[in-house]
Amino acid sequence: MPENRCVQGIWTSPWLFILAASGSAVGLGNIWKFPYMVGENGGGAFLFVYLLCMLFVGLPVLIAEVALGRSVRANPIDTINDLHERHIINKAWVLVPYLAGLAGFLVLSFYSVIAGWALAFFERSLKGVFTETDEVQTQSVFQELISSPSEMMLWHSVFVVLVILAVGQSVTRGLAVLVKVLLPSLVLMLLGLSVYSVLVGDLDQTLSFLFSWKWNQITPNVVLAAVGHAFFSLSIGMGGMFAYAAYMSKHMSIARACSIVVGVDTLVAILAGLVVLPLVFALNINVDTGPSLTFISLPVAFGSLPGGQLVGSVFFLLLILAALTSAISMLELFVSWLHERFYISRLKASLLLGVGVWLLGFASLLSLNDWSDWTVFGYVLFDLLDKFTSLILLPVVALLLSVLVALNIPRSRLENELITRNPKHFKWWYNVLKFFSIPIMLVITITGWIGV
Ligand code: PFF
Repeated sequence: MPENRCVQGIWTSPWLFILAASGSAVGLGNIWKFPYMVGENGGGAFLFVYLLCMLFVGLPVLIAEVALGRSVRANPIDTINDLHERHIINKAWVLVPYLAGLAGFLVLSFYSVIAGWALAFFERSLKGVFTETDEVQTQSVFQELISSPSEMMLWHSVFVVLVILAVGQSVTRGLAVLVKVLLPSLVLMLLGLSVYSVLVGDLDQTLSFLFSWKWNQITPNVVLAAVGHAFFSLSIGMGGMFAYAAYMSKHMSIARACSIVVGVDTLVAILAGLVVLPLVFALNINVDTGPSLTFISLPVAFGSLPGGQLVGSVFFLLLILAALTSAISMLELFVSWLHERFYISRLKASLLLGVGVWLLGFASLLSLNDWSDWTVFGYVLFDLLDKFTSLILLPVVALLLSVLVALNIPRSRLENELITRNPKHFKWWYNVLKFFSIPIMLVITITGWIGV
């Protein structure tokens, strides 16, 4: 392989890949999006389908993406080019990593707007705005923020600058160290908050909402939402995991690493649900309120906790850092490619992409207020980007990558890459991917195109 295609670093320990990949997976999707998705989609029915998706679609597809990423040890675009040049795959596949990079770019444009909300709430929490607040007051704090384009622009810009600076560094250096501190702190904080929430909130209603459901609640929309969210939550289909896998040591078991990432990601989402939902029921907030659910319910809890000003500020800080470690992976595909292929410095490459993200983010935050009359298929730009990426683009890219791995890469090559100690594990993964995950994604993709 030509020198310019070699990746620029390698994780110095197997755990660093797991940490970085978990940092990509755990983010706003777990803490902000999961609780309101459960709320909007009927509770238990969504949770059941979501858990099945994580196990039988998310995990096999993640393993496929990582195996592909490590096979050539180059950025995703050059990896696919390399496979084509060696006549292993057809030229048309070269398009797929560009689509994955585009998905990451589009997601980051609205993801950084939401991270901006977390920054705004961090500032308010530091100032003590939530001390002894109630749900009506926090609702108006949220509403005030959403109706102020200038404030959202400010926080969105701050977050984009942080992302540019972070992606400008080599991901194999600082990122894993940050995640190493961040993840345990986040899990501990969520554990503590869930205990509080269970004690003061409405646990009975939460449990019956999450665990009693009927088969007829599993509608096509619920399945679509659950699969889309599983992809979003595991950062599948945007090339971030693919790109990180290039820096992974050849001796590491991909299946084990991916299983840990899926486990951590699911645990954090469930913990977030156990923090938010009991409060929502106790405060009589509508469980299908949508994207504002976490931002309305949590500050009320912080407001009534002893030391809540500090606890709330630390929580929002952790949320911002979790969003940052996810955001970094959304730009990694294009940044690593521009750097390795065209020798553009990582900082310049991330600046170039960051400006695009910044501008598109402006348009999507304006669609929540000044430009709210401008809709496509009934959606404002912010919702359109969310729906289009989660329900269409991510499943399509994930489907294409899985078909590429399962049907186009020689099986012996995959067996070598996956080095499972037990050959049965390989067979299990291969068959689930081929006969279960791929057909499901196919159905989902077609339904997504028809339904959105
Ligand atoms: N998995 C992240 C979250 O749940 O917040 C979001 C995400 C990160 C999506 C990276 C895609 C990606 F490439």
